[in-house]
Amino acid sequence: MSMATNATRPAQARAAYPDPSSRSAALFERARRVMPGGNTRLAVYQTPYPIFVERAQGSRVWDVDGGERIDFINNQSVLVHGHLFPPAIEAVRRQLSKGTCYSGPSEADLALAEHLVSRSPAFERVRFTNSGSEAVMMAVKAARACTGRFRIAKCEGAYHGTYDFVEASRASTPANWGSADRPTPVPYTKGTPPSVMEDTIVFPYNDVERARALLEPRAHELAAVLVEPVANRIGMIPARAAFLRYLREFCDRHGVLLVFDEVYVFRLGVGGAAERYGIAGDLTAMGKIVGGGFPVGAVAGRTKVMDVFDPSGGSPAVPHTGTFNGNPVSMVAGLETLKALDAAAIAGLNARGDTLCAAMNAVFARRGICGQATGIGSLFRVHFHGAPICDYRTGYPTPENAAKVKQLHKLLLNDGILVAVNCSGNLSTAHTDGDVEQFLAAFERNLVRVEGAKA
Ligand SMILES: Cc1ncc(COP(=O)(O)O)c(C=O)c1O
Repeated sequence: MSMATNATRPAQARAAYPDPSSRSAALFERARRVMPGGNTRLAVYQTPYPIFVERAQGSRVWDVDGGERIDFINNQSVLVHGHLFPPAIEAVRRQLSKGTCYSGPSEADLALAEHLVSRSPAFERVRFTNSGSEAVMMAVKAARACTGRFRIAKCEGAYHGTYDFVEASRASTPANWGSADRPTPVPYTKGTPPSVMEDTIVFPYNDVERARALLEPRAHELAAVLVEPVANRIGMIPARAAFLRYLREFCDRHGVLLVFDEVYVFRLGVGGAAERYGIAGDLTAMGKIVGGGFPVGAVAGRTKVMDVFDPSGGSPAVPHTGTFNGNPVSMVAGLETLKALDAAAIAGLNARGDTLCAAMNAVFARRGICGQATGIGSLFRVHFHGAPICDYRTGYPTPENAAKVKQLHKLLLNDGILVAVNCSGNLSTAHTDGDVEQFLAAFERNLVRVEGAKA
């Protein structure tokens, strides 16, 4: 199917979801017999069953029952050029004829490292991992080794992957989050050692005064402050410039390392989202788009910091290994993807996203519906309350609003539009104007239905 066809043709008819007689429902029953919850990835879990994918191309995804949808999830922001981006796929084909992984470096990881270093002055050295979670974990370990301290600070509600320490208060609730002045570090995973919470300071996103009150007295204990320049799970909320400036200044003053988590939001600038603020991290964790649709993570930073990984003088301060680190398939796909995501492509994508977000907010206003689309550039998220959102608590939905998000997600699914279950999404360069128009029409149609159903 050509992209030109996509521009004019609506996604094809689908059976209404959920459908107990569907192939997806049957596959899910099979999956439940071999995987807990029939699932191997929480982010794509859905009740009563997830829709199984048959194939995808460009901006479209086809399910195993033949249903076609326009994809605004793009595997949680990975597929910045859509599915099967031809230059990446061609490079992978060429690589496959030469081998998939070796017990040795290749020019593929070298070329991607050189490319990343060329994208930001903050990236003097790079190491690759297999996931964003590992990249964040290695950044934290590097900060500990550099500073000789072991505690870290992170924002309430922020998601940084699956490392114990960064899971603190990932999903705290009004019942356990404590006071706003002193958020309680809440474990995300049952059985997390209490010492992990003791060694993690949780502070509110975007709140300089509260951050100052929490961080300053414990500055001498901290190895790293970990922050997303645009907090995706908190509600797709850009950081206030003053907040990032304060964190940078705090870290400089106390010899703490500032770690930017750009795993989700790197697509927002040539050197990542932080570039918009003109503030450099000491370390930056990346993932997703850096592998061009294949598994990857990367940690980059100043030479002096990254030297903790250097094994040349004997045993490195931070031993870093991984069977698939720098595997050439991910590396060549990532290189082609990033080469095509230059300043002009990013500017175009971000402008389209900003226009889309404004149009979604215009729908809320025109229809007199309480809610808002937050986001920046190619990233957006829908909320069903109108109050300003600046951090985890102001974005936290009431049970009624959470139910509306769930309902809108399902209605969009049945209208040929894929957004994440929290009604967040993103644009890729494969989306046509027609795709975006269909999204907006479906958004308005179904937003009205959600409110109608409530009345
Ligand atoms: C901000 C952020 N950090 C880290 C991660 C973890 O990345 P991965 O799923 O590749 O382990 C994610 C994943 O969505 C993320 O959004």
